[in-house]
Amino acid sequence: MTAIPNSIEARHIASVLHPATNFKALNADGPLVMTQGRGVFVKDNQGKEYIEGLAGLWCTSLGHGVKELAEAARQQMETVAYTHMFGGRSHEPAINLAEKLKELSPLDTGKVLFGCSGSDANDTQIKLIRYYNNAVGRPEKKKIISRKKGYHGVTLASASLTGLPVNHALFDLPMDGVLHTETPHHYRNAEPGESEEDYAARLAGQLEEMILSEGPETVAAFIAEPVMGAGA
Ligand SMILES: Cc1ncc(COP(=O)(O)O)c(C=O)c1O
Repeated sequence: MTAIPNSIEARHIASVLHPATNFKALNADGPLVMTQGRGVFVKDNQGKEYIEGLAGLWCTSLGHGVKELAEAARQQMETVAYTHMFGGRSHEPAINLAEKLKELSPLDTGKVLFGCSGSDANDTQIKLIRYYNNAVGRPEKKKIISRKKGYHGVTLASASLTGLPVNHALFDLPMDGVLHTETPHHYRNAEPGESEEDYAARLAGQLEEMILSEGPETVAAFIAEPVMGAGA
């Protein structure tokens, strides 16, 4: 692509680095610059409209241009723009949200720890597992079993949980202590004539064998998506 000097595409190519992107294709075709959104629709800078089927990678599940969200953000920005939560600091919106999440979750005795992304959340889960097992005197219990093709994020630790080769190759991942068991994809991976129940039982058996061969005293957790997304 020969971008017009100072066009938004030329400014982009000169200054923005992307995650999960083919740079040759990006340099050849230029970026897709979105400028507007309304409900499930977004528009690029050429005026072309799209249905945004991924909901901003799940961040805009309520749609674009929602007045109530804009108003809530405006009011909060005017009241207290930001307060971190280190060292016991808190704020009412965090307490309200934690209560709401507890109400929605099946774990009524649990507490909520806020993060900034799914990758951050999964890194934090690994930290909690390590912290807890060190604190209770079980330093050997740290291994985590994930699944081939599972998707759990892109930071070093969460990309280790992710079971996709593209997230491992060239990054020296997965890190030690992360193991991957089989992909639960009956349609692609079942033996001829194998029922979903038999397939699920076979995979559960493989998971058990992995725990036993690693040593149950060294295995701290198993992580899996309820429904496979990126890897499906
Ligand atoms: C199941 C699952 N876990 C973790 C993540 C990572 O979340 P984030 O992109 O916010 O880091 C995603 C993102 O799509 C996900 O679908």
